[in-house]
Amino acid sequence: MITYHADHKIFNLSTKNTSYVFGEADGRLFHLHWGKKFDNPFNFMSYLADYQYAAFCANTEEGYCLEPMPLEFSTFGNPDLRQPSLHIRYENGSTDSVFKYESHRIFDGKPGLKGLPATYVEDDSEAQTLEIKLTDEMTNISVYLLYSVYPELDVITRSMRVENNGKETVKILRAMSATMDFVEDGYELIHLHGNHMMERQVDRVKVTKADVSIGSVRGASSHRHNPFMALVKPETTETQGDAYGFNFVYSGNFLAGVSPNIYRGFRAQMGIHPFNSGWVLEPGADFQAPEVVLTYSPSGLGQMSRNFHKLYRTRMCRGKFRDTERPILINNWEATYFGFNEEKLLAMAEKASKAGIELFVMDDGWFGKRDDDKSSLGDWTVDLNKLPHGLDHLGKELNKLGMKFGIWFEPEMISEVSNLYEAHPDWALQVPGRYKNMGRTQYILDLSRQDVCDYIVDAINNVIGSANIEYVKWDFNRNMTNVWSALLDSEKQTEVYHRYMLGLYDVLERITSANPDVLFESCSGGGGRFDPGMLYYMPQVWTSDNTCAIDRQKIQYGTSFAYPVVTMGAHVSDVPNGTVKTTPLQTRAFLAMNGTYGYEFDITKFDDDYLGRLKMYNEMFKKLRHTIHTGDFYRLYSPFETDFASWQYISEDKEQAILFVFANATSHARHTYFIRALDLDPDAIYVEDGTGKEYTGDYLMNIGHMLTSTQEYGNACWVYNKKH
Ligand code: GLA
Repeated sequence: MITYHADHKIFNLSTKNTSYVFGEADGRLFHLHWGKKFDNPFNFMSYLADYQYAAFCANTEEGYCLEPMPLEFSTFGNPDLRQPSLHIRYENGSTDSVFKYESHRIFDGKPGLKGLPATYVEDDSEAQTLEIKLTDEMTNISVYLLYSVYPELDVITRSMRVENNGKETVKILRAMSATMDFVEDGYELIHLHGNHMMERQVDRVKVTKADVSIGSVRGASSHRHNPFMALVKPETTETQGDAYGFNFVYSGNFLAGVSPNIYRGFRAQMGIHPFNSGWVLEPGADFQAPEVVLTYSPSGLGQMSRNFHKLYRTRMCRGKFRDTERPILINNWEATYFGFNEEKLLAMAEKASKAGIELFVMDDGWFGKRDDDKSSLGDWTVDLNKLPHGLDHLGKELNKLGMKFGIWFEPEMISEVSNLYEAHPDWALQVPGRYKNMGRTQYILDLSRQDVCDYIVDAINNVIGSANIEYVKWDFNRNMTNVWSALLDSEKQTEVYHRYMLGLYDVLERITSANPDVLFESCSGGGGRFDPGMLYYMPQVWTSDNTCAIDRQKIQYGTSFAYPVVTMGAHVSDVPNGTVKTTPLQTRAFLAMNGTYGYEFDITKFDDDYLGRLKMYNEMFKKLRHTIHTGDFYRLYSPFETDFASWQYISEDKEQAILFVFANATSHARHTYFIRALDLDPDAIYVEDGTGKEYTGDYLMNIGHMLTSTQEYGNACWVYNKKH
């Protein structure tokens, strides 16, 4: 997995299909290769000679320029003038550093990152780790670069820790978790942008001679950009060409992007956004930067995504539900909003249970005096006007109906109209003397404070312990403004964003580990915090508040670039719903099946015939759930490029394949489309579920299905089982 060639001072990190190679010279780490597997990198360093000189680039003490060179790690101005990996301000105001290689160690397994989410191993044989120590002799500050290699998953992770063994207090101004210098031009950058109700739209831009970056300064990974990017060649498709995937394991402010070099190539980086950020590092202290997940696919974007999916399903998500089938749920939000009572909920649950739904989720409005969104966040006590017999009773009644009980919280928030705010107005993020900006009539609690975190842990654990609660939806419905904390001195105010994330992760760790049998679903006005960091604590995420089956094709398709289908909350709701489009029930049901599956409407209004159809879809989903949630996922048609969205699953044992297709336009020449499967066994016979028709894998992959349906916003699902 990881070899060090001492004679040539070369590190070779290899996975099943890829290699990542860099070497050391004069104490500096030079990046040599990331891509196709390469087993013999010994003479590699010689090609660096071609890069050493450039006009208007100052020299190192050894007499060459760094700026045209591919580096593994860089600091500003000494003499590299590109965006640095690490930028530190010293007591005298200078920001030059020179970090040189001191030592390294290679060991089996993968260590956790203090206070941060990260991929993990269950057995040390699953991964190997390289830790490189670089030290700035003058200040005695050390940097530990951490590389972990998952050979079977074709994944390499990177992170960085800064340790102050010197005598002065310094400030970290910028710490990028991964720096990757590409030596050639001609790439394109794929990223996922969006807004509330239209998250993770796929955009592909040329990397030319301008900086291209994405990021968030909103205190959350956000709806606007996802902490994911891929670098690809113009010819890269789903099934061929180079695809380099980067994903940041962090839920707060981030920066990712590329910046061209003076001659050719560019520097790609990913890390905490340096804007309004800075960490004071006292003597004896250390700072851990979050993890970046890297995966390279020589065979297109599909394989890149499958690498991310498998890693996240198996070594990012944790707990009982990682390996457990996710229940079909019904949520009362769109059915009732704040206007519900026990009777209404139980009436919904009774019908839902008859239709085969497994979990009832009581959404916003059950606590304090919350009859609209203007009050009560922070007061996590049941509203006895709505639920006169309390939560325990409601849970028992739901259990009698054969349903599990789930509940909504928004623990990081505080309403001005609340008992909590009356008692602790200083707990809200705010700047003294300035107007406090409301978002959805609420403020954000200052999770950089220990007392606030402790309050949240106690309050939420108390509620969960008060009834048989088996599911929690954890919401976060605004972004951060007025970011200042009463407990920190002025120099440390630039730490608040990151301290907030550390506080949040600590709260999540304490609550999820105290409640191992509870399924947690993360949410932020839908998918405003859909990132690998949250998946470490909560194995599913409400993908979007937009449940329109047309818009959702793009949202779920885009989300699949990095995140597995089993993590995507997807529900059937009424039509039209928020958008003008009216779609058939089957289109909505089939689309939501490509996720954790659930419902979000008033089921009490439906007659037996309609309920019978819901039951049929639930039975169908229960049959397909295992393959959808654990199988390999293939994108077939992009809703961003065609009138269709289409994708496919192959079960882990390769015995079953499922194909879905959805129309996203009402008028088009549908007969010209063929849906062709990928990666089946060409010689095997596949039997189509329902019709019993038999096809060879070869036929399904090369001839395929011509679409014949003419239904508006139509859909199809084909299930094939191998014949033996
Ligand atoms: C957010 C969520 C919704 C719902 C509401 C409740 O918008 O995304 O699903 O829970 O909050 O206020």
